[in-house]
Amino acid sequence: MLMADAFVVRSLDEVRFWSRIMKEHSLFLKLGFRCEDTQLIQEANNFYSLFEQIEGRANAFSENTDPRQIIVFNTEVHTAASHIWAFKRKVLGLILTCKLPGANNFPLLVDHVSREANYFRNRLADLNNGKLEPIADAIIDENVFFLKIMADHAKFISHLLDPSERKLVEQARDFSHDFDTLLWQAQDLSSMRPQSQTQPLLTQFLDQNRVSVVSLRDFKKTARELIEACRIKSIIHPLLADHVFREAERFLEIIDMFERHLQGDRSYNINDLH
Ligand SMILES: [Fe+2]
Ligand SMILES: [Fe+2]
Repeated sequence: MLMADAFVVRSLDEVRFWSRIMKEHSLFLKLGFRCEDTQLIQEANNFYSLFEQIEGRANAFSENTDPRQIIVFNTEVHTAASHIWAFKRKVLGLILTCKLPGANNFPLLVDHVSREANYFRNRLADLNNGKLEPIADAIIDENVFFLKIMADHAKFISHLLDPSERKLVEQARDFSHDFDTLLWQAQDLSSMRPQSQTQPLLTQFLDQNRVSVVSLRDFKKTARELIEACRIKSIIHPLLADHVFREAERFLEIIDMFERHLQGDRSYNINDLH
């Protein structure tokens, strides 16, 4: 179980990060709909306002907020995350049955943002239930989740850059391949559980993933700067470039937390991880 203040701090950290992400997903989905999809655009706008409001409330709370108030808040946010998840799956269904011809959201992108909503929802449920996954399982599960997210980002970037940006498209494809390989490795380690959950294997796993996430993070940072300065040709919204950069930073922070734990830094409480 989490200590009351750790529970508040962890909850606010998750909600502040992911509510902004959910808000931005609403914007990206909206931009990909056709002008005539007024109903879907309206739904996306409603989710934008909902998560903007949640983000504002999360920022107004502090570590001194009564944990009971945060439990209620988390439940409310959990419902909102469930609703946006259902909306994203509905949109995915419409795309895959060819009901939105000419719209500009890739099916993989819609699936991807729905997985992020589901992750957010699960994090909130775990926090409220005081259910903490054992550290060795958390290390594998978080990496499997985030490596897939990173592999998807690389694919989105390579497909949203203008085809004439040959060098950058090639670099993005290399990242896609690198992360697909890391994801398979993570799934191998997962299938070898619990025998694979030794300190040296988990440390090596984190070290190896970290190296690739750092270079992808730097690539995204450069791409973001180039897009903002209008120096490259693409259909990537500058906010999307920043969004995927922040998600890579988030993954790095999680890897760092796990590494500190494996190094046996006792001042760092295991409960801060989950
Ligand atoms: Fe996202
Ligand atoms: Fe993402």
